[in-house]
This record gives sequence, C-alpha cells and structure tokens, in this order.
Amino acid sequence: MPRTIVVTSALPYANGPIHIGHLVEYVQTDIWVRFQRMCGHRCYYFCADDTHGTPIMISARTAGIQPEQLIERVHTEHAADFDRFHVRFDNYYTTHSPENKTFSELIFGRLNQAGSIVRREVEQTYCEKDQMPLPDRYVRGTCPRCGAADQYGDSCEVCGATYRTTDLINPRCAVCGTPPVFRMSEHYFFKLSDYEKPLRALMAAGYTQKSVTNKLDEWFQAGLKDWDISRDGPYFGFKIPGEENKYFYVWLDAPIGYMASAKNYCDRNGLDFDELWNSPANELYHFIGKDIMYFHALFWPAMLLGAGLKTANKLFVHGFLTINGEKMSKSRGTFIKASTYAQHLDPEFLRYYYASKLTDLVEDIDLGIADFIGRTNADLVGKYANLASRSGPMLTRQLDGRLGALDDEGRQLIRRLTDAKEQIIRDYEGLDYAAAVRTISALADEANRYVEQNQPWTTIKTDREKTRTTLTAVLNAVRILTIYLKPILPQFAQKVEKFLKVEELSFSDVEKTLENHPIGTFERLFERIDEEQVTAMVEESKESQAPKPVVTPPPAGATPPPEGPEPFKPECTIDDFAKIDLRVAQVVTAEPVTGANKLLRLVLDLGGVQKNVMAGIALAYQPEDLVGKMVVCLANLKPRQMKWGLSEGMILASGSGGKDIYMLTVDPGAKPGQKVS
Ligand code: 2FM
Ligand code: ZN
Repeated sequence: MPRTIVVTSALPYANGPIHIGHLVEYVQTDIWVRFQRMCGHRCYYFCADDTHGTPIMISARTAGIQPEQLIERVHTEHAADFDRFHVRFDNYYTTHSPENKTFSELIFGRLNQAGSIVRREVEQTYCEKDQMPLPDRYVRGTCPRCGAADQYGDSCEVCGATYRTTDLINPRCAVCGTPPVFRMSEHYFFKLSDYEKPLRALMAAGYTQKSVTNKLDEWFQAGLKDWDISRDGPYFGFKIPGEENKYFYVWLDAPIGYMASAKNYCDRNGLDFDELWNSPANELYHFIGKDIMYFHALFWPAMLLGAGLKTANKLFVHGFLTINGEKMSKSRGTFIKASTYAQHLDPEFLRYYYASKLTDLVEDIDLGIADFIGRTNADLVGKYANLASRSGPMLTRQLDGRLGALDDEGRQLIRRLTDAKEQIIRDYEGLDYAAAVRTISALADEANRYVEQNQPWTTIKTDREKTRTTLTAVLNAVRILTIYLKPILPQFAQKVEKFLKVEELSFSDVEKTLENHPIGTFERLFERIDEEQVTAMVEESKESQAPKPVVTPPPAGATPPPEGPEPFKPECTIDDFAKIDLRVAQVVTAEPVTGANKLLRLVLDLGGVQKNVMAGIALAYQPEDLVGKMVVCLANLKPRQMKWGLSEGMILASGSGGKDIYMLTVDPGAKPGQKVS
C-alpha cells in the first residue's frame, strides 16, 4: 500500500551560511525521502529558513539593511547550497510568511482559549542606547560566582554557573557596551506543565529514540517550567494579536513554519493542506539535531496538542558532526561552508561518507579526513564506478553496445544481489544507512570478483559472445547496485540510467533483468580525490571563516577596539595560580589513539601514582620516542572524560599546534612526583 508521508528537517537560521555540520541532517533526511519515493510512497519534504529573532534583526542593522532584505538574500544562498548537495525539498519556504503568521495566531489563540497561556511581569534587561530589550546572550559581564570577566548573561563559560542576567556584576550591552537598565515588562507564558501527562504518553508510545526518551525523563523529573513565548519590540517577528509592542518569540513560530511551508505548497499545487497534515492516515516525521530536542519533544508537541492538531509520528534525532574527532573549528579550517566544499569536491562524496556513518543513534558522527579520502576512493571510485567503467566502454566499443542474455553463473550473481533487497530496504527505513552501505559495498566486491574471475579483457580476444554474457551480468549488477545507492547518490544514478538507457530506477526494478538491450555512451562517474583538493578546501575555510558572530561589531562611530593580541582570558588571582600543582612525571607508555590523529594516550608515573593523560602531541612526537622521558604534568587538573577515555592531567608544552609543539622536559635525574615551580 502506498503511504503518504510528510517529512521535515529543522529550519536553518537566516543569518549564516549552510556548513557541512548542517548537512548531516539534510543529507540524512533527503536520503530517507528519496528512499520512500523509490519504494512507491508519496513523500513530501518541507523546510524553510528560520527568519525571526534578535540576532537576525541585529545582523540586518549592522549591515545597514532591512531584515527582510537580509533574509531574502540568505534564502537564495541557502537554496543554492541545498541544490548543490542534491537536497530536494518540495518546498523551501520562509517563516516570515503570511501562512506562518496565520498559523501562529491560530495556535496561540487556541492555546489561550484552552487556558494554557498566562501573563506575568518579568524583569528584563534593556539597552537605552540601542533602544531594545537584550536577550541573555546580548548581555556580558562578570560572573557572580567565580568572578570571571566577560561572561554571557545566563551562564559562565569558566565555572559553568547559571544565573539571572540581573545577577551579573558590571553588566554591559554586548552590542554597544552601555550598561543596560532593568525594566519590568509583562510577558506571555505557555504552561507546558499542563501537558505533562499527554507528553509522557506520547514518549511512551515511541515518539522518539530511546536515548532521547531517557533524557526527557530527566526533564519530566526536574519539572516542566512555563515557557516565555513573547518578546518586547523592537523585534523581528510577528506581533502578538491585540498587542502594540509584543511579538511571538522566534521559537514559537519556527516549528509552525513546518506547517506553513506545507500549506504554501498545498495551495500552489491544488492539495488539501488539512488532509495532508492532519489526516491520521498520513505519516509525519521531523528530523532534528540533538541540540533542539527540548523544543521538538516538549514545546512543539504540547503546542499541537493544545491546539487540537496532530503530532508527528516520530521525531528522529541525530548527533553532531566532528572532524578528525574534534569540534568544527574556524582556526583549523574545519568549519567548512557547503559552498566552499562544493567548489573543491563532489557533493556526492560527502553524501556517501555521511551515509556510511549514519545510524538511528543519537551519536555524533566523525568525518576523519584521511578516512573520507580513503573511503571515497576505495568505494565510489574503486568499487562502483570501476565496475561500470570496466564493462560499459568495452561493450560499447567492441560489442556494438548491446547486452546479451544472462547465463547460469550470471544469474547466480544477480540473485545474490537481489536477495539483499529486503534487508537494504529495512536498513534505509530504520535509518541505519551505515548497515545499508556495508551490504551494498560487499555486494559490489562480489560483482568485482566476478569480473576478475571472468576476465572479459582476455576473453574478448577469443570469445566475443562469452564476453558479452559476462558484461551483461556485470551491467545488471551495476544496475541493481545503482538502485540500492540511488537514495544516497542521485546524480550517479542518473548518469547510470542514461548510460544503461533505462527509465528512472526504483526498488520495484530490482528483480527485473536487462537483456538483449542497447546501452548508451559511458560517462565517467567519479574522479579520485587528491589530498591536495582537501588541503585547499581546508585552507580556504581558514580564510573565509564561517558564520557571522552572534555578537555583532559595534555600530559605526563607536570607538574602535584597540589593536593588539587576542583578548586575554578572564583575570586569575594569585590564589587561583597557587592551585596549580606541577610535578615531574615519567612517561611509562605512549600509544596512538584510534580515531584521533592528534592525540597520544600517555600513562605517566608521578612517583608511585599513575595517571592517564590524553595529550595533543601526536603530530609532533612518535610514541616510542617518549617512553622514559621526564615531562612536567599539571597533576591536579580535574579529570575529564573524553570520547577516547579519561584524561587525568595535562603535560606542559608550547608551540602553535600540529607539528609545532615542544614538550617541556626536565633533567633525567629528576624524580617522578617531584614538585616543579
Ligand atoms: O536551531 C536552529 O537552527 C533553529 N533555527 C531550528 C528551528 S527548527 C524548527 F523548529 F523550526
Ligand atoms: Zn546597546
């Protein structure tokens, strides 16, 4: 039975470029949507730019343009990026739309009627110079707990304290530096706790993955808090009905943007939106990252329940992207914009690499650059493209471009490929793309072995028809592998379809065979990646520096910041410094860490006490050269659980990183555990 499925991905903010971290989600969703369509289901994919809120208002102000102009420009850029990566939405809309305004008002009105909205006075930070309320992130000051300077208005990055903006010592507006004032203002709150019971029931019914449900349990236990859904003007957003200077908070209208995008599509295509969105017969799925679980697992379904609208069948949550085991970083050049990537490398390489790593778990996925190059060259070029390029051109040039009939051996090969279909379908459906890729790649190995065994380049000299039979089996294998890979590699699939002269392939074509059939001219499918291409991309990313800072530069006319070194860290007192306990340590063992090319795992002896230390020195030192060395260790560093194990200290070194690292060593006669001052 064909299903009708509506799918959404999270709406990217309209004030920064799409980068390869974002693409994990869009590639994951796009593969799923393409897969569903290839199974014969009706599947709609909706998204939009998330356009409202203070950061966008300030970005526009800084650029000297209206927010509407900014979001229009960004919309064009985002749409082009998605297109480059073959992410094909049915509608890529905007939250700044009439449909979204109507739905936001409708849902707010229904929640109000249901008694789920209350008004309360709150103390709010306001900049009289910029004449705007300041969200927590736009106030900086000294942490009331540890005294660290230049901290955000809601939490301290140094000691981890969370507090109210009003508690901050010496607060300043992050835009202009003026001390803010505090004003009372009436805000609207959504009583989330009214929905605890149905929300719990939703989770129990499998609304999302197990690990997300566990996290939600913690939130339920901590107690659901009322949610402030209004902001005072000036604010770029929708006015709250009946209010002069109050707006819906961006996170209220953002998820409603999913519906607005669908509505706009339905209106333009003669479809009934209510039927599509709300019919229990249709399925609805949201794909999101783990950072926005709270909004999508609690606020959003609660809003829908309160408004009498259908909630999604399932929320699919994914982890973040790391690169070489570390967070994306502008200084390392791993904060790579989608457009920069596409200038250097084929977007399908990234789609395939992500697919090879993605499962339904909420775990981070790592793009190891060497692994990425290796896998692309080995699989895409060495397995799939190779299979086609070893058979297609020979058939075209030497055998009149005509497939013959399969013999028994060929049929056996093809049967092994077709037999995998149901498992591959299950893996795609269950978001275990990594498993699907493993199966497909093993099948490609089998087909390549078949070519090796049958040696068409030799038999062509003596037995043309036998060669045709061999190539017929190989090209049938190519065709089946192409079907399996098509959700991931749509452009590759299109080239193969053209070359095999077949209609658009889908899963129902797996069992068909192509015999006595003319083929077209072969077009090269993939080119190998050279390491230099990746290096060039990383270098360019170092210069182009991705997204705009949230805290924007001061307006024209403000005193320019002094030139000089990078800003210093918050002050530390002599007492802080006295806490540092440096000891001589002898390296007992040193070994590389799989998956983290910069790290070495060291075991240090501090005079009878051993400590594990993860040290970022692997590019500068060979592990075997370190054993026995006397180094200096920060012995009382709070142990830190890293992805690769516990790190209980830090060794002292200097340098700019990479190969340029110089470890501090001490006289070999020193005693492990001895104090260093
Ligand atoms: O976190 C973000 O990037 C948000 N712009 C996601 C919004 S998703 C949906 F709720 F609109
Ligand atoms: Zn200000």
